[in-house]
Amino acid sequence: MTFASMPKIELHLHHEAAAPPGFIRQLAAEKKIDISGIFDDAGNYAFRDFAHFLEVYDAATQALQSPEDFRRLTYAALEETAKSGVIYCETFVSPDFCGGGDVTAWKEYLAAMKEGSYAAERDFGIAHRTIVTCLRHLGPEKAKPAALCAAETAGAYMTGFGMAGAEMVGRPGDFAYSFDLAREAGLALTCHAGEWGGPDMVADTIRDLKVSRIGHGINAIKDDGLVDQLAEDGTVLEVCPGSNVVLRAVTGWDAHPIAKLRDRGVKVTVSTDDPPFFHTTMTAEFENLHRTFGWDEADFKALNQTALDAAFCDADTKANLAKKLEDAA
Ligand code: ADE
Ligand code: ZN
Repeated sequence: MTFASMPKIELHLHHEAAAPPGFIRQLAAEKKIDISGIFDDAGNYAFRDFAHFLEVYDAATQALQSPEDFRRLTYAALEETAKSGVIYCETFVSPDFCGGGDVTAWKEYLAAMKEGSYAAERDFGIAHRTIVTCLRHLGPEKAKPAALCAAETAGAYMTGFGMAGAEMVGRPGDFAYSFDLAREAGLALTCHAGEWGGPDMVADTIRDLKVSRIGHGINAIKDDGLVDQLAEDGTVLEVCPGSNVVLRAVTGWDAHPIAKLRDRGVKVTVSTDDPPFFHTTMTAEFENLHRTFGWDEADFKALNQTALDAAFCDADTKANLAKKLEDAA
């Protein structure tokens, strides 16, 4: 089996970033918005560092205005993701980009995404769930309406709540109100931590926000006790190695801690984060893990199983996906 043809489960993918940049350029042209400054001569997103990446990301979302834009985005993103053999993915979507946290508007955006998602499942065989994500750099007060949007639309399609954005703003506990609200609505929880912050940020996120998954979490490797705790508790890391390399959260593939974390018993999964920004795909992630750490088909099978177990979807969907993984093997 080639890396391209292996079926894959992807848990950490930002909705607004999952379509090719050409899609965003096309939308911007239709709306006569000039966002040409965020692209390089080859038409790719151009950014200097993480802070600039967040600015470029925000600028790209200006092209996404109506629920219909999000329907088209969802379809295009899932078409692209399915090309790498992804049979199931979860995407992070922020109400801040979909009506600014207004629940009525958010419901219209989400309905449109669902339409795009079902069409993509029909056409490309990819199953999809969404996770509402608040943006940390907007502060705890802005996280509350996002959590309310999540709570009001919790269900089979919108299954989780999380937080992305600039990690060094505030402390995890500042956002406890929003995570409590989402948990009480029955949502599964994840949060970016330990991408830029140290092991203390990962530990505080688990303690204060009571999440079952951590986005990135790679800096946990700097604290042996925390690594043991993650392994013991079964906390799942949504690791995005290609993103970490391009954003320089690590110095290169050889220095990436994913293999060490896995070998110490931590449940690691692999995702692309924002694939067009980092010139990556799930197939490229698998290839790089093979090249760097020698991971082979058995390793990727185990990786898929960890991701499937940690997925924020219902048991029937998991059983269908398990069968697909089995059939492919
Ligand atoms: N939003 C999109 N990509 C992100 C990342 N890698 N870290 C934090 N927030 C993000
Ligand atoms: Zn992310």
